[in-house]
Amino acid sequence: MIRTIAIANQKGGVGKTTTAVNLAASLAALKRRVLLIDVDPQGNATMGCGINKNEVEKSVYTVLLGEAGLLESRARAEGGFDVIPANRELAGAEIEMVNMPDRETKLKDAIHTLKAAIVAVADQYDYILIDCPPTLNLLTLNALCAADSVLIPMQCEYYALEGLSDLVQTLRKMQQHLNPTLQIEGLLRTMYDNRMSLSQQVAAQLEQHFGDKLFNTIIPRNVRLAEAPSHGMPVLLLDKASKGAKAYVELAEELVAKHERASR
Ligand SMILES: Nc1ncnc2c1ncn2[C@@H]1O[C@H](COP(=O)(O)OP(=O)(O)O)[C@@H](O)[C@H]1O
Ligand SMILES: [Mg+2]
Repeated sequence: MIRTIAIANQKGGVGKTTTAVNLAASLAALKRRVLLIDVDPQGNATMGCGINKNEVEKSVYTVLLGEAGLLESRARAEGGFDVIPANRELAGAEIEMVNMPDRETKLKDAIHTLKAAIVAVADQYDYILIDCPPTLNLLTLNALCAADSVLIPMQCEYYALEGLSDLVQTLRKMQQHLNPTLQIEGLLRTMYDNRMSLSQQVAAQLEQHFGDKLFNTIIPRNVRLAEAPSHGMPVLLLDKASKGAKAYVELAEELVAKHERASR
């Protein structure tokens, strides 16, 4: 069964995009059919997959404006999965969607646009990952509306928990009003540095707070993960022996095992 996972956290720089690209590549390496949807106008996930965001003809923008479906808008990533690219054009989509005539119903429709597009390709993929921007806007709402669950990357440092209550509140509101079945897929500890006691403390603190909502896999701070985007490829292609690559494969295995248990 297809599973749509939004990768979200209102904080920037916590590893959302890194997780989106590398989890997509790792799931593809496990022979799962994967579509990565970039809904951040910065287009970092797009570029990180080796797709030039400034050269694409179709993007998630065309999908959100109802001008094309996902299948016509996809590009192929380095690493064996499909990508719906994003670029700066997308920043305008929000305004255009909201300014359409008959605002109330249009807005309601607009929030469900991505979901409708995903339903139409449900037999083509095993996993759809959505890389969210670090803000709560119409784009993020679209993602959270379309998703079965949310994966929340959290940086193992002092301010990790800051802003988390905002996110939890947002998810609760989503469940009440727009997407009653939205689940928390899990919290993912990122940029973990085992030489730093602070990192260890925060990782342990997160475990206390969130227990079984936490992925067992911890993503270490790893320079290859930071370098991979400049090569336009997931770390698995750049250096599959690196700690970063191994950690994301482990995460993909954990995710797949969980879903295969649940569907049995
Ligand atoms: N585990 C990691 N180790 C080292 N650098 C990382 C790691 N995860 C992310 N980074 C780097 O940190 C920065 C922010 O990560 P990114 O995934 O873009 O965060 P977000 O999408 O949440 O803003 C990027 O420069 C990225 O390359
Ligand atoms: Mg990002």
